[in-house]
Amino acid sequence: MNEKAVVCKIGGSILSGVNPSIVEDIRFLRDSGKNVVLVHGGGDQVTEVAEKMGKKQEFITSPEGIKSRYTDKETAEIFTMVMSGLLAKQIVQVLERSGIDSLSLSGVDGMLLRAQRKKKLIVVDERGRKVAIEGGFTGKINRVNTQLLELLLSNGIVPVISPVAVGEEFELLNVDGDRACSHIAGALKAESAIFLTDTEGLILDDMVVQKMKIEEARKSLPRIGSGMDKKVIAAIEAVEMGAARSVIASGLKEHPLQAADTGRGTVISN
Ligand SMILES: Nc1ncnc2c1ncn2[C@@H]1O[C@H](COP(=O)(O)OP(=O)(O)O)[C@@H](O)[C@H]1O
Ligand SMILES: [Mg+2]
Repeated sequence: MNEKAVVCKIGGSILSGVNPSIVEDIRFLRDSGKNVVLVHGGGDQVTEVAEKMGKKQEFITSPEGIKSRYTDKETAEIFTMVMSGLLAKQIVQVLERSGIDSLSLSGVDGMLLRAQRKKKLIVVDERGRKVAIEGGFTGKINRVNTQLLELLLSNGIVPVISPVAVGEEFELLNVDGDRACSHIAGALKAESAIFLTDTEGLILDDMVVQKMKIEEARKSLPRIGSGMDKKVIAAIEAVEMGAARSVIASGLKEHPLQAADTGRGTVISN
């Protein structure tokens, strides 16, 4: 239980050249007594490196229309290398350069994120038919080591978490960054789960939604496009699991984290 926790996911879409005012915001939030946890994405960067290594990336679509990476063992290894390698270290580098103590962790470090490996996946093929395929190396998070997070937070360290989880047989599993954020925020019973992305929030009928109850958010899912759909699902989940609210907001403007923390963007709550 950490009502002062603000768990923030930085989307891959805004990772290149981390917005310097996010760093100032982290300092500001910490100085005002909040505990900041960062979770990052980076799917496009994984695809870029994988393809440079000659490993073609494949994407699948669920019957609900959600797109995701098909992760075989090799892809799970490249995913781990990129996510909890360079991307995580670059974020820590930016924070440490500004005097903010931080430590990067994947889900296997200290068994931070445990997940159940998906045995089968139902996907829609080119002809629109539903088929079951091997699950590969993706997982559904079922346990967060909050004690480890509390240990870091109580020592003033900002945890930087990569979306890699550990399976029951200690396999490295690809998990969605938005989902990692929601599970961590839920497990900590955080004050907010904040999803910083490259739009002002959830856009419906050409307008940014300011406030939404989870029921309404769930109903709007069929009208939401790829990328934002996963974020809204995660935002709903964070609240269901115990976070006080979720905020989806732009990470591209000045002081994005402070703005989101004061409720600018799309706020989803009970
Ligand atoms: N209804 C919507 N409102 C806002 N963004 C949407 C919507 N439908 C689809 N999107 C897309 O979702 C994207 C954000 O998701 P994504 O690209 O996965 O970013 P991130 O890297 O932050 O996870 C936006 O850039 C936008 O193109
Ligand atoms: Mg995304």
